[in-house]
Amino acid sequence: MTILVTGGAGYIGSHTCVELLKTSYDIIILDNISNSKKESVDRIKELGGRDLKFYEGDILDRATLDGIFTENKVDAVIHFAALKAVGESTQIPLTYYDNNVSGTINLCKAMAAAGCKKIVFSSSATVYGSENISPLREDMPLGKATNPYGTTKMFIEQILQDIYTADNSWSISLLRYFNTVGAHKSGRIGENPNGEPNNLMPYITQVAVGKRPFLTVHGSNYDTPDGTGVRDYIHVVDLAMGHISALDKVLQSPGLDIYNLGTGKGYSVLDVIAAFEKASGVKINYKIAERRTGDIATCYADPGKAFEQLGWKAVRGIDEMCEDSWRWQSQNPEGY
Ligand code: NAD
Ligand code: UFG
Repeated sequence: MTILVTGGAGYIGSHTCVELLKTSYDIIILDNISNSKKESVDRIKELGGRDLKFYEGDILDRATLDGIFTENKVDAVIHFAALKAVGESTQIPLTYYDNNVSGTINLCKAMAAAGCKKIVFSSSATVYGSENISPLREDMPLGKATNPYGTTKMFIEQILQDIYTADNSWSISLLRYFNTVGAHKSGRIGENPNGEPNNLMPYITQVAVGKRPFLTVHGSNYDTPDGTGVRDYIHVVDLAMGHISALDKVLQSPGLDIYNLGTGKGYSVLDVIAAFEKASGVKINYKIAERRTGDIATCYADPGKAFEQLGWKAVRGIDEMCEDSWRWQSQNPEGY
């Protein structure tokens, strides 16, 4: 069977493609390389041990999509392609709505036209908003996103649900990721942020490698055990395996399912710094500062539904996440 992976050259996509290449699925990557490098595609092939098809192109370009569906018999799509920088989304919201929402609509139209109605979508824990109390469960009401990026994920979830309501021959899996960190054990692929990282782990690894002088800890007066924000960090390879489980289900029968992909455990910013120092042997300079706008105190998953229905659970702990993030960063200080 052949799987189209949009955004497959990116951080989570590349790790998922490596795991897909170890199964019997053939893969086609479509990526416009706006937030990734072609080098990652070569490394996916190297780590996966076999070939794949790569199209450099945009999900906004219907002709490119139609070309792919005409040239290949695509059985299902894993849809990662999106812009994801929370801060940037507040500066250029239209670009985010266009790329993420219009891009997904374009993709779904091309899929429907080609008779391919099976999709696994990258959603986010951000859709739970700030009011729900962790552990977060899939049946909780959605919150209000605090930025346009988060709103695109809410809109796309709604659009995919409406597509299914209108035509229940579709098979759709909405995967709500928690905080993805770590890298492939080889140190050959990993997260490669452009410019100053937004997220905690790449910031820590850049401080460790000497690219940034210190980490700013955003807030120390939250209602958490040590006052810093608590999140559910999940190893990217565990997340990748979750996609394969979701894909297997999507290919079996029509339906629409929503799954949290998290570990169910929360770690504070100071916990992550301590775990990273232990894993790397490098001291992390940090300064405590004000809270970051839009942040919440605590966010972690109830991952039970994915285990019950998909047989999937995360198995890699915080130490392994830090060791693997560090191996990637120290072996590739300038990224790809
Ligand atoms: P990433 O930026 O590394 O990967 C996204 C890929 O999509 C990039 O390679 C980029 O070049 C490509 N892309 C973007 N717009 C495109 C377009 N119009 N056409 C073709 N390709 C396009 O990001 P990631 O961390 O791997 O995230 C993958 C998905 O998971 C995204 O949808 C993101 O919103 C979602 N997500 C990520 C996290 C996280 O912690 N990293 C958390 C929740 C959800
Ligand atoms: N943090 C710092 N300093 C930094 C960066 C982050 O103290 O330089 C703190 C934050 O305040 C928060 C924690 O580290 O308490 C995690 O922050 P991240 O920016 O790494 O992650 P978020 O939880 O804010 O959000 C991330 C993605 C979202 C996604 C969400 C999934 O950025 O897109 O995880 O739950 F939706």
